[in-house]
Amino acid sequence: MSDESRPTPAQTPVAAVIPAAGRGVRLGPGAPKALRALNGTPMLIHAIRALAASRHVSLVIVVAPPEGAAEVKSLLDAHALPERTDFLVVPGGESRQESVRLGLEALPPRYGIVLVHDAARPLVPVDTVDAVIEAVRDGAPAVVPALPLADTVKEVEPAAVAGDPEPVVATPERSRLRAVQTPQGFDRETLVRAHESVTENVTDDAGMVEQLGVPVVAVPGHEEAFKVTRPLDLVLAEAVLARRRLNDGF
Ligand code: CTP
Ligand code: MG
Repeated sequence: MSDESRPTPAQTPVAAVIPAAGRGVRLGPGAPKALRALNGTPMLIHAIRALAASRHVSLVIVVAPPEGAAEVKSLLDAHALPERTDFLVVPGGESRQESVRLGLEALPPRYGIVLVHDAARPLVPVDTVDAVIEAVRDGAPAVVPALPLADTVKEVEPAAVAGDPEPVVATPERSRLRAVQTPQGFDRETLVRAHESVTENVTDDAGMVEQLGVPVVAVPGHEEAFKVTRPLDLVLAEAVLARRRLNDGF
């Protein structure tokens, strides 16, 4: 692409990859986590709407459970979604990392900025999505939304048998720690390079970028961007939705 035709950062199209291929083992038995309902609507649909609510996001790539791509496609057809947003569905893999990579492989060349967002964070506010995009547009190659911790964190020597006492090894200074959420935002080339070269298992995409030696910055996250992981999180998510309905007046 010549310099003249290259879009400026402010114009670079933004796509979101939503890994939704996990089983949700910690949530307990049932359908894959992303397909479970919150107030009658699948968690995945909430998550897609949350990302598509940003007027900057013009494509959403959903990474479906490996055998569930057809089901996810019909879910997208059955729910109202913004017309200005394009949608793609691809089957996922064994690990979150592999699912994200499969999503990235489906990303058309014109998208210069990519967000990666857990389907399991269905309630992220659009302002958080936009803050991440803005930081990438301002030149950060990798951006994570993050919150200070409520609990003190201890590093332990993990016990061989679950439930056994575990020796405490260290107590990092809490004020320097952050809990990291999604969407994480990236310069596309940086994230693709990270997925091509980092093979160790990591729990977030920014961690792979850090391994490349590329700087990652944190911007303020939001308490409503919490991850639905265990059964109590479903109760919290439905309470957040109920509060929103009250505040919206319907
Ligand atoms: N994910 C994925 N592909 C996998 C595993 C996870 O796309 N093979 C997605 C999940 O669908 C979820 C996000 O990655 O949206 C974050 O993962 P997590 O919260 O751990 O979800 P699960 O892996 O489904 O839950 P669990 O670890 O309890 O089984
Ligand atoms: Mg998991």
